[in-house]
This record gives sequence, C-alpha cells and structure tokens, in this order.
Amino acid sequence: MRSRPVITIDGPSGAGKTTVSIRLAEAAGMIRLDTGAMYRAVALASRSKGVPWDDPARLGGVARTLALSFRTVAGVPRVFLSGEDVSDALRTPEISMGASAVSAHGPVREALVEKQREMAREGGVVLEGRDTGTVVFPDAEAKFFLDAAAAVRARRRFLEVSPPGGQPFEEVLRDVLRRDVQDSTRVNSPLRMADGAVYIDTTTMTVDEVVGEMLRRLPGIPR
Ligand code: DC
Repeated sequence: MRSRPVITIDGPSGAGKTTVSIRLAEAAGMIRLDTGAMYRAVALASRSKGVPWDDPARLGGVARTLALSFRTVAGVPRVFLSGEDVSDALRTPEISMGASAVSAHGPVREALVEKQREMAREGGVVLEGRDTGTVVFPDAEAKFFLDAAAAVRARRRFLEVSPPGGQPFEEVLRDVLRRDVQDSTRVNSPLRMADGAVYIDTTTMTVDEVVGEMLRRLPGIPR
C-alpha cells in the first residue's frame, strides 16, 4: 500500500500534459514522472546503438538497460541518458516519431511500465503519458484525460519544436495526426481514456484554468 496518492494525466500529443503536470505537481507538492520522455529515450538510445525501431526484441533490451535519470536544473526538469543531458535531443521531430514507433512494441512497454511502477511505488507522483491511468496505475487516486483540437495541439508543438522553427507548421500538424493514429490504434496499450478519468478539453483554456480545474477535482486527496 502506498502512503501518498498517484495522479495520472493521459492524452494525445499537444493536449497540454507536460506544462500542466509540472504545475500540478508543484501545486500539490508531488513529483512528476514524464513517461513519454522514457519512450523518447528508448528511440534515441536505440538509434545511437544502431537498433532499428522495428526490432521489438532488441528494443526491449535497450529499454530494460536504459540508464535514465530525471533532474531539475535551475528549476527546469531535465532528462539525462548515461549521464548526458538529452532533454533537447529528445524533442526533435525525428525522435518524436521514433518514440511513437518504439512505444508500439510489447517488450518496450513491459520494461518501461515496470520502471514507472517502481519509480512511483510510494506515491506522491503525477504521471503523464498515454497509458498511465489505464495500464500503469489503474488504481490511481485521481485520473485526468486532457484533449484539444488537433490544430491547436499542432500549434503548441510547433512552438516547442527543437530547434525553434525547425519544422514547418504543416509538417508538425501532419506528424501530430500521424502520431494520434499510431498511438490510439496500436494493439499494446493504445491511448484510451481510463475508467473514472476526468475529461478536460483544453482547446480554449489557459494553463491556469486547466490547473485550477484539476485542483478543484482533487480535494480530499491526502498530500
Ligand atoms: O508524450 P510524448 O509526446 O513525449 O510521448 C512520445 C511518444 O511516446 C508518444 O507518441 C507515444 C509514446 N508514449 C506511450 O506510448 N505511452 C506513454 N505512457 C507515454 C508516451
């Protein structure tokens, strides 16, 4: 039994999960686990090891041995792979598509889900991803599903592509739509709203409004 709650936030690319989970974790005095960064790290690590993104068995090996750590540097969450800060390298268009590809494979998911459960075992954690409320913690104390119109989600992604302006908007939109299809039609843990999740359409909402709405849904959760 964990002594502190687990909160899950799932939804498609650009729905606002990252920004909102950082703010929510801060407001609730919890830590945050970006599960998408873990799939991105598998895509990056496998590329540098020469493991193709369609080789489930070898990708499973990469996922199991991933030397990943999350640290906050100057108030900003950063991701380290084998000691190197890869936060920016994880956010290129190529690695975004690669993460979506590797995340479809069972052995990758099994390895990462096990790590995620272990990292959040004691609670006090906000997890964000695609399956955190359906598969990783179906018994979470609070679950959210964030969504937004595709054009708005693509615009948000367009503004955070690394390097800035490095991908035309039309291409970002095409990639967002392609990842929507890949992530929600795969056989292993497709993107779905979890039973009991609160659905929030963030299309016309500010970050403050979304976080405020989530906090209103959380009273009673011991922090
Ligand atoms: O949230 P993100 O854009 O960083 O996620 C990158 C990819 O990783 C996404 O296209 C699907 C996959 N993913 C997943 O399958 N399950 C998760 N819990 C998180 C991300």
